[in-house]
Amino acid sequence: MQSTRGVLIVLKGKNIIVGICGGIAAYKTPQLVRLLKKEGANVRIALTEGGSRFVSELSLATVSEEAVYRSIFPPTNKEGTDFTHHISLGEWADALVIAPATANTLAKLSAGLCDDMLTACFITLRPGKPILVFPAMDGGMFLSPSVQRNIATLSAGGCQVFNPESGELASGQCGTGRMPEPDTILLRLKEALGRSAPSSPLHELSVVITAGPTREKIDGVRFISNFSSGKMGFAIARAAAKRGARVTLIAGPVNLETPPGVERINVESAMEMYGAAESFFGSCDIFIGAAAVADYRPLSPYEGKIKKNAEELQLTLVKNPDILAAFSLQKSPRQLAIGFALEKEHDLEHARKKLESKALDLIAFNVFDHKTSGFEVDTNILTLIEREGQATELPLLSKDGAAEKLLDAIETVRLKTGIKT
Ligand code: C5P
Repeated sequence: MQSTRGVLIVLKGKNIIVGICGGIAAYKTPQLVRLLKKEGANVRIALTEGGSRFVSELSLATVSEEAVYRSIFPPTNKEGTDFTHHISLGEWADALVIAPATANTLAKLSAGLCDDMLTACFITLRPGKPILVFPAMDGGMFLSPSVQRNIATLSAGGCQVFNPESGELASGQCGTGRMPEPDTILLRLKEALGRSAPSSPLHELSVVITAGPTREKIDGVRFISNFSSGKMGFAIARAAAKRGARVTLIAGPVNLETPPGVERINVESAMEMYGAAESFFGSCDIFIGAAAVADYRPLSPYEGKIKKNAEELQLTLVKNPDILAAFSLQKSPRQLAIGFALEKEHDLEHARKKLESKALDLIAFNVFDHKTSGFEVDTNILTLIEREGQATELPLLSKDGAAEKLLDAIETVRLKTGIKT
């Protein structure tokens, strides 16, 4: 058994747009991008025409590992061109940082002008996403009535505008106007993202999720397994961690990256999965069995490699313990047990019986068709069945989307059950 502890870092996996305008401080922005990347953020750059005079597109593309965005008009001669990228870039972002922000761009933003990617992102960013603006210019310019008026308009619109710092300026004079250092900007961004994180009832709860297949050894080189990819369980882990839960993901052999902020325990067999899960039975708040645990294992796996001398080979299989049922049958009323039922037919009755026999609080039923639902594919069609019999059929969703709906339903069940943390 192998454990990797992920650390919940506020910037990990976050999508950040850095908007760069035409001021001398732009030369510091590759360093800012570096710091963001080091924290695990995905960074895309919106560079104004003026900004490109102070910092090279090539430097920014290299440090961000992405093409730099300038014009709202995409090239029309390239295959795979996103013709609405002036919208999709803003919608992609979790936050927009404009550093340095010039007097010209401040005026455009406050007036709602939209003639380049930076100003387009400002307009298309989804509501509630933080916008941090770092004006940097000569002190006299900064204090001019028009700049101050535009800053006031942006602040009233919900932007966080940070006063420039004092020190040596490009003009050779000392005064106010300097852009804060990249590490200060990074700190301000972390604070803003921390504040904007929606608070969920799952916050700080301990959620244990089993995912993926198990492998049951026949001999030293062969095993019995199934086609589970682990994608659904990993999507649930990712979504629960985003809601602030303390997530432990007990994963069978799959080829997937650990979602940010998730503690992962790698296991091979059902017995190993059971052993890992059992240690959380007393302490977890929610147990979600998303793993396709092999029902049987060979009674006595052969030590070496079985030779193919005989025409027939008999394997004796014994039943594996039911991990989820073992949890739910001993759980306290403040804990929830959630399971999956994967069937060939759309047979809700069978799923209901499973919910009853395993004493679950909620079961997610899905049919496997190898195209839109079930193992391996990236989408799923779930029907969520609660203990009282209420069934909610979800539409075809990405597994990430289905995971969000499942967590919404778990939050509701928790409320209905009257569990208080
Ligand atoms: O295999 P079955 O259809 O009974 O699985 C239903 C649920 O029980 C799933 O959530 C699965 O993860 C869980 N399960 C388990 N241990 C087993 C078999 C199934 O935790 N040995």
